[in-house]
Amino acid sequence: MVARVNTVAFQGIDVKPVDVQVQIASGVVAFNIVGLPDKAVAESKERVRAALHALGLSLPAKRLTVNLAPADVAKEGSHYDLPIALGLLAAMEIIPKGELEEYVVLGELSLDAGIRAVTGVLPAAMHAGVNDNKLICPEACGGEAAWAGDIDILAPRDLLQLINHIKGTQVMSRPVAALGDQGPVRVPDLSEVKGQETAKRALEIAAAGGHNLLMIGPPGSGKSMMASCLPGILPPLSPREALEVSMIHSLAGTLPDGGLLKYRPFRDPHHSASLPALIGGGHRVKPGEISLAHHGVLFLDELPEFARATLESLRQPLETGEALVARVNSHVTYPARFQLIAAMNPCRCGHLGDPDLECTKVPRCAADYQAKISGPMMDRIDMQVDVPAVKVGDLGASAGESSAVVGARVAKARRIQEERYAQFETKGFTVNAYADGKILEEIAPLQDEAKTLLNRTMESAKLSARAYFRVLRVARTIADLSGAPESIGKTHIAEALSYRRVSIN
Ligand SMILES: Nc1ncnc2c1ncn2[C@@H]1O[C@H](COP(=O)(O)OP(=O)(O)OP(=O)(O)O)[C@@H](O)[C@H]1O
Ligand SMILES: [Mg+2]
Repeated sequence: MVARVNTVAFQGIDVKPVDVQVQIASGVVAFNIVGLPDKAVAESKERVRAALHALGLSLPAKRLTVNLAPADVAKEGSHYDLPIALGLLAAMEIIPKGELEEYVVLGELSLDAGIRAVTGVLPAAMHAGVNDNKLICPEACGGEAAWAGDIDILAPRDLLQLINHIKGTQVMSRPVAALGDQGPVRVPDLSEVKGQETAKRALEIAAAGGHNLLMIGPPGSGKSMMASCLPGILPPLSPREALEVSMIHSLAGTLPDGGLLKYRPFRDPHHSASLPALIGGGHRVKPGEISLAHHGVLFLDELPEFARATLESLRQPLETGEALVARVNSHVTYPARFQLIAAMNPCRCGHLGDPDLECTKVPRCAADYQAKISGPMMDRIDMQVDVPAVKVGDLGASAGESSAVVGARVAKARRIQEERYAQFETKGFTVNAYADGKILEEIAPLQDEAKTLLNRTMESAKLSARAYFRVLRVARTIADLSGAPESIGKTHIAEALSYRRVSIN
């Protein structure tokens, strides 16, 4: 007789059902797990054996076989402990076999039979909901599972509590949905940034339309400071976005306090970050920084210091909004619709253009330093602004607009975009940055003067077709910030072009 328990395997954010089959047969005493388990799954038998021992149960001296079907799907992670233990308990007739049929089970066991938190509970709970199943997950993950809608959830603290519930001696209640992040961590307010009006305006436009932005300037001019103001001016995630982003963070195990994310992620990996850390993958495939920044911001400070291959690997996700991770015999994709904010010095000494401070290698040092960012990469950055050194006079100036005031304008422009894209069959985007050619033609018609200016600059500055559309998107956002007129005017195009560091004539 074979006991069966349902669990899941993860491929990207896709969830595949896995059937845990446990057989106790006579023969040589053995305990085998088959069905493409990775090391963590293979080690699970020691944890299961110890956990049952902690409850005063020992495994029968028979041939125990655990099969994780289908056998061609790789099983990674430690969440197979609990389904394997429950399968064994059912096969040993300690719990009734039929009881678990409707449940999807995941959880890691500790040696004292406690049930430890695992990654991926939210997508597993959504999967259970879609298939009219119930869920058993660790207590620590109950708050995140409860967001998956109206499904029955058991979130036991340990194996004994679960067995008692199944036997009806102790009834567990459904966990309550938890909110993980209670607000953006303390970030500097925009009013603390003195001067830098152009850069602040560019930051506001980038925040409003989800555009990529590169800030170039000497050391200590406020580039990193302005970037860290961004979480304070971005609106919170919509409920649908929150669920999407939280699923990715659930798989990566980075959900704060086991609850849903409410605010847009702001990820700022160090420039020593490896390619798998940024894009995803690694020995045990995990979402990378670009996916953790989905619907939020990826801030790359000191851009030229990132490894060349790492930067180039951003090219495809920047266009498609997806991270494609190659595995030995398959591919997995993670959503990665992020907004790239980057900062860099104009050259290694950092003072290019300042006769008092620049080094003797000018202009070669600047050419070498800036060449670390490839042309195609630059082409994908919608806005590039100079952030000059702050003047002493500016430092004493009174405070400018606060993040709250700028944030209100950003939120208004985002609402306009949301309503606009709701009428199109868009693939889930709500900001101008993702409008493609055809939709763009419809939503950003150019006035004659604007068209002439754009076409002339395109010719003279040799802008690429990509740059053409990116300028249009930025111009659409500038128009949205200024009351959302139907068509794009010359001033909107001129301002958008000014952020591409081209001379306008
Ligand atoms: N425009 C500014 N207004 C107010 N304070 C500023 C400004 N620019 C810089 N500062 C002060 O200088 C500190 C350093 O600035 P920041 O780290 O943003 O410089 P940076 O441009 O990123 O320099 P680097 O190129 O060396 O990374 C800030 O924490 C802040 O205290
Ligand atoms: Mg900096």
